[in-house]
Amino acid sequence: MKSKDSTVENLLNELLTDELSTIGRCTLYAHMCENLGYQELHDALEKQAIDEMGHAEALRKRIMSLGGNPTVPNLTPAGAGKTVEEIISDNRNAESASIRAYNVAIFLAKQVGDKDTVKVLTDLLNTEKEHETWSKNQLSQVDKKKHK
Ligand SMILES: [Fe+2]
Ligand SMILES: [Fe+2]
Repeated sequence: MKSKDSTVENLLNELLTDELSTIGRCTLYAHMCENLGYQELHDALEKQAIDEMGHAEALRKRIMSLGGNPTVPNLTPAGAGKTVEEIISDNRNAESASIRAYNVAIFLAKQVGDKDTVKVLTDLLNTEKEHETWSKNQLSQVDKKKHK
């Protein structure tokens, strides 16, 4: 069924672009952490990348079920972080931005009465919150080590 409102489809495509960019960021940072000798951070970021792939898949499915076309987007370049602290900090900032973007999209989907989209986006939002919390916890551990 074609969505009555192209705003939702456009928003879903913007979120899809963010998710595809996030996969690139997480896999790059996972490999950088491994290279710096932080295997557990590598494993956690690789797992996050797999979560983000699931998000991209859910968004594509939702766009197609609305009769839209998932875009082939211009991805946001990744790699601002160089040290482990910068990597996790950049990841935290990006996850916080993702949470804001999902909240805006959920608000707009509610406004046009698209309950199915609200449900899909709310599930994805919950994982983004977990990613943000994980990043914050890692940063507070780094901070504690610094002040020992
Ligand atoms: Fe995501
Ligand atoms: Fe995320």
